[in-house]
Amino acid sequence: MSEQDALIAAAKQARENAHAPFSNFRVGAALRAKSGRIFTGCNVENATLGLTCCAERVAIFKAISEGEHGFDSIAVVADTDILTPPCGACRQIIWEFCGDVPIILTNLSGKIERTTSGELLPAPFDSSFLK
Ligand code: THU
Repeated sequence: MSEQDALIAAAKQARENAHAPFSNFRVGAALRAKSGRIFTGCNVENATLGLTCCAERVAIFKAISEGEHGFDSIAVVADTDILTPPCGACRQIIWEFCGDVPIILTNLSGKIERTTSGELLPAPFDSSFLK
C-alpha cells in the first residue's frame, strides 16, 4: 500500500468515530509526521455548535499534544461528490503547524484530489509577523 493510500485509509477509519449528531456531516483526517507516525482525527460536535472541532484540528492537536512536530501531509475524507476542503480555521492551523504541505482530499467513492496548504491559504498570517 502506498503512503498516500495508507493515509487515506487512516482518515477513513477515523471518520467512523465522527461525533456529528447535529450536522450528520462526518469527516476524518490523517496527518503524517516526519517521524512516520500517523495521527488521526474526526470532527467532534457539541450542543453549542460553535465549540465544534474539525477533524483536521483534532488530528493536529493530538499530534502536538504527544510532542510531535514536523509534518509531511494530511488527508481529509468526507462523503461528498465535490471533495470537502479544510475550513478557514483549519487552513490557518494547518499552515501554522505544518507549513506548505500536500493536502489530499478524498471521498468514500475513491475520488482523490491533491492540493497544498499554500494553495488553500494564500498570503497567510503566521508568527513571522509577530516580531
Ligand atoms: N468539518 C470538518 O471536520 N472538517 C472540514 O474540513 C469541514 C467541516 C466538520 C465540522 C462540523 O462538525 C461538520 O463538519 C459540518 O460543518
